[in-house]
Formats: sequence, C-alpha cells, structure tokens
Amino acid sequence: MQPEQPPRDLIETIVEAGRWAPNHHLTQPWRFFVLAGNAREALGEAMAAAAARAGGPGLDGPKATAETRRAILEKERQKPLRAPVVVVVAVEPSSAPNVVRDEELWAGATAAQNILLAAHAVGLAARWRTGPAAFAPEVRDHLGLGPTAQVIGFLYIGYPTATPAPAQRTELPTVVNWLGWPDA
Ligand SMILES: Cc1cc2nc3c(=O)[nH]c(=O)nc-3n(C[C@H](O)[C@H](O)[C@H](O)COP(=O)(O)O)c2cc1C
Repeated sequence: MQPEQPPRDLIETIVEAGRWAPNHHLTQPWRFFVLAGNAREALGEAMAAAAARAGGPGLDGPKATAETRRAILEKERQKPLRAPVVVVVAVEPSSAPNVVRDEELWAGATAAQNILLAAHAVGLAARWRTGPAAFAPEVRDHLGLGPTAQVIGFLYIGYPTATPAPAQRTELPTVVNWLGWPDA
C-alpha cells in the first residue's frame, strides 16, 4: 500500500457499506474505529503492551535478551503503520436473551467483508488481519470496548502499489455439494 492517506469521504463511503451487513434481530452489533495518523501509533502501543503481557520465547524465554525483547515489541508497535488507514471492526454483542453470541460475531464478519468489497470497488487495497492483538484486553480497553466485545479484524486500507498476485482458492467442485438437482 502507498503511504498516501485516502480522503476521509472515500473511507467513509466504504465504512458506510459495513453498517448494511446482515444481522439477526437487527442488533447491529458492529463498532468501527477508523484510525489514521498517530491513532495508528496509539494502537501499536496497545498491541506492544499486549505482546509484553503475553510473553513468548523472545520476551521471557531462556534465550530472551534486552535486544530480542526490544525488537519484538517494536515490531508490534509498527504493525498498524503498514497502511495509512486501519479500520478496526469490533462487535459489542447484544445481551438480549434471544441473541446468539456467535451470530453477533458472524454479523461483524459480514460487516468487515462489506467494507473490503466496497474498498476494492473504489480502487483501494484492503487486507483483513487479526493475530493475538484481536483477542487482547489491552486492545479492547484501548478502544473503549466492553469486556464482552470482540475485535473482528484490523482492516488495513490504502491505495495499492501494485496489482496483487491472483488469489488462490480450492476449485468449486471440491467444496460444493449439489443436492436435489436432477443432473447431480
Ligand atoms: C478472520 C480473518 C483473519 C485474518 N488474519 C490475517 C492475518 O492476521 N494476517 C494475514 O496476512 N492474513 C490474514 N487473513 C487473510 C487475508 O485477509 C487474506 O484473505 C488472505 O491473505 C488471502 O488473500 P485474498 O483474500 O486476497 O485471496 C485473515 C482473514 C480472515 C477472514
């Protein structure tokens, strides 16, 4: 992605597509955080705090050094800077008794996909990422989300630098089952 920041109205157009996603009981559980500039750095700080708390071989393993720790945490800090705009799609699930939490998450996922499709439709590059940060309380708290909220994805958005390699997917016959069709 190019470092150039797309204009706010273009980003608003694609985020707008998110709120038209299907959702059961019309709970509309999605929350969108549209980060640019130093708001991405602040998210990187929360990601680094989450990584420091979670630990790992390079952070608190027997071979960890001040240098490995510094490098790992710096990498976390830099992650949101990979694109000029990061749209965090999160879900605040409804607590109504008839609402199924999984369905709230699926609604959030369809909102994220709507945003990706809208981004591509207007010529922007967009990539859905998660990783441990999507499940970290540090990130949830940083965004002001409640304890039952879930980050669905960090959508990295910007102008493309190049045409991406063609997508790879398993052929349709491998994953589809035609049932009740006379020619099946
Ligand atoms: C829930 C979810 C989480 C994902 N997390 C990551 C991620 O953390 N890093 C990554 O490189 N791709 C991640 N992806 C995959 C990419 O968004 C993308 O789909 C994949 O690289 C294939 O590219 P394509 O969809 O353009 O074919 C994730 C996708 C989904 C649906």
